[in-house]
Amino acid sequence: MKASAPGKIILFGEHAVVYGRPALAVPVTQVHADVEVLDSSRPGVWINAPIIDLHAELTSLPSDHPIASVILKLIQLFGFSQTPGLEINISSTIPVASGLGSGAAVSVALIRSLSSFFFHSLSDDEINIIAYEIEKLHHGTPSGIDNTVITYNVPVYFIKGQPIETFKTGKPFTIVIGDTGIPALTKESVGDVRRLWLKDTHYFENIFNEIAQISLIARRSIENGQPELLGELMDRNHALLQKLTVSSPELDKLVITAREAGAFGAKLSGGGRGGNMIALVEQARAESVASALISAGAKRTIITEIS
Ligand code: MEV
Repeated sequence: MKASAPGKIILFGEHAVVYGRPALAVPVTQVHADVEVLDSSRPGVWINAPIIDLHAELTSLPSDHPIASVILKLIQLFGFSQTPGLEINISSTIPVASGLGSGAAVSVALIRSLSSFFFHSLSDDEINIIAYEIEKLHHGTPSGIDNTVITYNVPVYFIKGQPIETFKTGKPFTIVIGDTGIPALTKESVGDVRRLWLKDTHYFENIFNEIAQISLIARRSIENGQPELLGELMDRNHALLQKLTVSSPELDKLVITAREAGAFGAKLSGGGRGGNMIALVEQARAESVASALISAGAKRTIITEIS
């Protein structure tokens, strides 16, 4: 039984979203995690995930292993005392630790394929709850935005703990994604921001409020068909993310390069410190911005249309 799940980018509001502010995220279907569950004649649950160099039987993995924890959770949910022999093949084109939601996408695809394999149908709401539990195991204090946008595979205007809201795009717009190629764990940048916030809550709350304003205006601009207004909002959001200390010289370099190559605006996307940045571009300029990013050191680029 096969299932897949897309990657994602955060357009506006990362980090502030952990503190209850709104954020906007969209799925990126050019990259995806794919899982296949097959019957196996040998006993045990065998997992092959070449992307993380994993070839192992379930019981040989620690129970909090990101993949094992999903499988164990479902075995418990389905009420199995013993599982039949299974082979689980996991592949993904989403770079690991890059801010594109690779972990959440693997969890969602794995939950989907295992539940279909065992004829235990789960709604998107149920899948999202399980994927969020897994995110909490591995990312400390996640907002839940990654698992939500990836599970429902629609643009989301996300506020932690509130029912999922999607948003419509009045006019399509083009985003170039540039990967620094530097792996960075979201857990670490989220933990660092928390430490700073605990030390100087007032200052950081103000930054989160400014980011919240940007997310609100961005949603309105997207829905009103004025995506050209997003460029300046991205620049402002990036400056605030720098104040949160989650940018890096490599991210800043790609952001500046994108602007110099004609993007309307650019910012880091996701946890930061490494991983990806995004730039808003005129469609006709997407290729030239992408190649400027490669010349400035990006390991790869993706051009995606938000519509
Ligand atoms: C990660 O994609 C987005 C962050 O805001 C963390 C979170 O929301 O859980 C940095």
